[in-house]
Amino acid sequence: MEVTISQQPPADVAADVLVIPIFEGEDFSQGALAALDGRLGGILARMAGWKDISGKAYQSSMVPAEGRIAAARVATIGCGKRDAFDATIVRQVAAAAARRLAGHSASSAAFLLSGGLPDAAEVRGVAEGFVRGQYQYDKYKTGDEKTPEAESLTILTPAGPAAGPLEDAARIGRMVGEAANYARRLIDEPPSRMTPSNLADEAKALGAEFGLEMEVFGPEELQKLGAEALLGVSRGSAEPPRLIVLRHRGALGDSRTLAMVGKGITFDSGGLDLKPSNAMEGMKSDMSGAAAVLGAMRVIGALKPAVNVLGVIPATENMPGSRAIKPGDVLRAIGGKTLEVDNTDAEGRVILADALGYAQNLGATHIVDLATLTGACIVALGNDISGLMGAPQAWVDRVWDMAKVAGERLWQLPLPEDYKDLIKSEVADIKNVGGRAGGTITGALFLQAFIKEGVAWAHLDIAGPAFIDKARPYLPVGATGVGVGTLVDLTLGFAETPR
Ligand code: BES
Ligand code: MN
Ligand code: ZN
Repeated sequence: MEVTISQQPPADVAADVLVIPIFEGEDFSQGALAALDGRLGGILARMAGWKDISGKAYQSSMVPAEGRIAAARVATIGCGKRDAFDATIVRQVAAAAARRLAGHSASSAAFLLSGGLPDAAEVRGVAEGFVRGQYQYDKYKTGDEKTPEAESLTILTPAGPAAGPLEDAARIGRMVGEAANYARRLIDEPPSRMTPSNLADEAKALGAEFGLEMEVFGPEELQKLGAEALLGVSRGSAEPPRLIVLRHRGALGDSRTLAMVGKGITFDSGGLDLKPSNAMEGMKSDMSGAAAVLGAMRVIGALKPAVNVLGVIPATENMPGSRAIKPGDVLRAIGGKTLEVDNTDAEGRVILADALGYAQNLGATHIVDLATLTGACIVALGNDISGLMGAPQAWVDRVWDMAKVAGERLWQLPLPEDYKDLIKSEVADIKNVGGRAGGTITGALFLQAFIKEGVAWAHLDIAGPAFIDKARPYLPVGATGVGVGTLVDLTLGFAETPR
């Protein structure tokens, strides 16, 4: 879909539909909306009086314009309360509008800014949200249920001289939206079609298309690297594991390298500690961290920012085959530390131990990892908020700030020193589970044990937001593409990261 900005007056835009955002408790008696409603003969105000139009978040209506303005019809979309409007809501409002238009013969849409945010932030959010709202996973539907995508979105900005920054904002928004949708397609793909080798092939195609350095390691190379943790988890599966590495060297004079590490369990059965059927459902999404990294690398490959970036993805299935690792097994990760596998279902942290070690061997100075790591994080924060942990605090703060810019919701959990006792092993350097209590924290503390002194590290537990089984007005059931936006903003702003 093409996304452009325009300073045309809203009444003059010839589009299939003109979308106008409405705040709760505000009417059509003032400002730009009053002028527009005047042209429409006061229909919007009358509909508001009938409660057919309201500013309640995501409430929508469609009104034929009958030749009174250049657009064929007007769609209103509720934005909620003006003072609650932010980078998250704007994206969701735009996505809800796009979803409302799907199937309505609206191949060109124009979107009026609400003025609830600085223009550039709102343009970014509208572009990104509208693109996200087009997403449909209909690849395996053979009937005529498929709805065509809108062809163009014109974002209407206030008249003024400086269109350049707004054009950039629209472009970033569109690219992040497309990258998130790309990540969603990888996640939504059925698990036996998105195996570790297929995921690696996707990464190769991405690397080739965008000119990224790329390496993919299979079992023999992993043996040589000493990646016993990743190899161990893969042992219960007929599918061979892959370690996927993508690299963009954009700043030869900069000693810093940002590494994004994404958990790539293409299916998590639990292994010998087999999950019950209700918990196994949806476990094709256990490579959502990997998909977010690939999505972000796509934007980085296209924009080629002056930053050194690494993408590292350990990919395997977690299956209970006859060669599977057993509770009580000990594995040696890259870097030499040993870990005891107490529970084979805590496999994400095990494969990440190798990936974090490898990223540091390649010179990572700043790491952010994304993983659908713990069910406990869903219990703590629900399906809309990711867990954030890490050290030093300045780096955690930076991730927090960039997530805010991207409109992604996070909440920080602590990493208390004394909780490390919970994952002490009798036989190895560390064990992979610490009991039910504080499960998200002990998961993160396990990862932290594989981070070297002086390396900045942040961990995002995206178990809740990565994949949802209840649709929202702005989101269908399935993969969400969470994390892509935060990674892109973290990268584009990396040069300004305080040292
Ligand atoms: N992939 C799961 C975590 C998960 C659960 C993600 C639900 C998304 C939705 C992870 O590998 C896992 O199984 N974690 C265990 C850890 C436990 C054994 C310490 C969990 O959360 O139960
Ligand atoms: Mn598991
Ligand atoms: Zn898992």
